[in-house]
Amino acid sequence: MNHAEHAINGQPQHCAYGELIAGLQSEQKTIDPKYFYDAAGSCLFDQITSLPEYYPTRTETAILKHHAEAIARHIGTQRTIIEPGAGSCEKIRHLIPALQPSCYVPVDISHDYLSDAVTSLNQTYPELCIEPVAGDFSRAISLPESVSYQSALIFYPGSTIGNFEPAEAVKFLQGMRGLIGPEGMILVGVDLHKATKTLAAAYNDHAGVTAAFNRNILRHLNGLLGADFEPDLFQHHAFYNENERRIEMHLVSAVEQIVTCRNDQLHFAAGESIHTENSYKYTLRDFSSLVEKAGLKLEQSWTDDEHLFSVNLLSVVNSRG
Ligand code: AVJ
Repeated sequence: MNHAEHAINGQPQHCAYGELIAGLQSEQKTIDPKYFYDAAGSCLFDQITSLPEYYPTRTETAILKHHAEAIARHIGTQRTIIEPGAGSCEKIRHLIPALQPSCYVPVDISHDYLSDAVTSLNQTYPELCIEPVAGDFSRAISLPESVSYQSALIFYPGSTIGNFEPAEAVKFLQGMRGLIGPEGMILVGVDLHKATKTLAAAYNDHAGVTAAFNRNILRHLNGLLGADFEPDLFQHHAFYNENERRIEMHLVSAVEQIVTCRNDQLHFAAGESIHTENSYKYTLRDFSSLVEKAGLKLEQSWTDDEHLFSVNLLSVVNSRG
């Protein structure tokens, strides 16, 4: 492909086929976790969020509910709130009464999903200005003329930032910092480093929903690549890599096999894996030094009593000191 768009992190973005095949042909086969979220995958992820083992979503929601007023005291009212990957726009509901945004701008790849969510949000808050944007926030997106990034609050809940390599997370935050200007702020959900058994259980639920979510990525690729993956010939494998402080999800080929995509053939040895996701976990101290590398300051963190999850407010460090 000739034309690479440059994304918010400065990386060129290639077409899906080229990007996916390159990952599947590398030494450690990989698929970018953004490919989890086709319609079936988004539905499976919704189911994950209410599993007993999966603490992040309910814990983050409780933090937002419990600390909404305190969060608003730090942020102030009347800001534009921009939410990348807003999906169902459920989490912002806990902050709207306290933050009283001048406008809420949910950004999501799925236009249909977004418009349903906006209709429902509008019923709850008929006075609220809502400007949905269908687009991929990891690429440069332009906002409607009536809203500006200047002094906005970027709301990035869910610990999606954990999917980035730490160095990539820094670039992503730097990109946001550039968009929002010196008065802008970022409110970001970050899952915390903790006992391996708690983390491993959250990605190995008894009902097998996470396994189904992991395998579903192959079904999605069958459509995107014209491939013939047989999801049942791959096993879900998720573990906490304690040295790297990240959950790794893999799909392990149960047998030696060849998978065909259009003109390309992929060979799998028995036991060979495709790495489908990293989900980095941070201590608050490590996250604070990460954000400093992006020219941001960790103003305040809110957590639950068990220190499972954190909601973090970042401000822009003035470049003149
Ligand atoms: C959406 C990236 C926050 O890492 O916990 C859940 C995705 N993967 N179970 C996470 C996920 C497997 C989730 N994030």
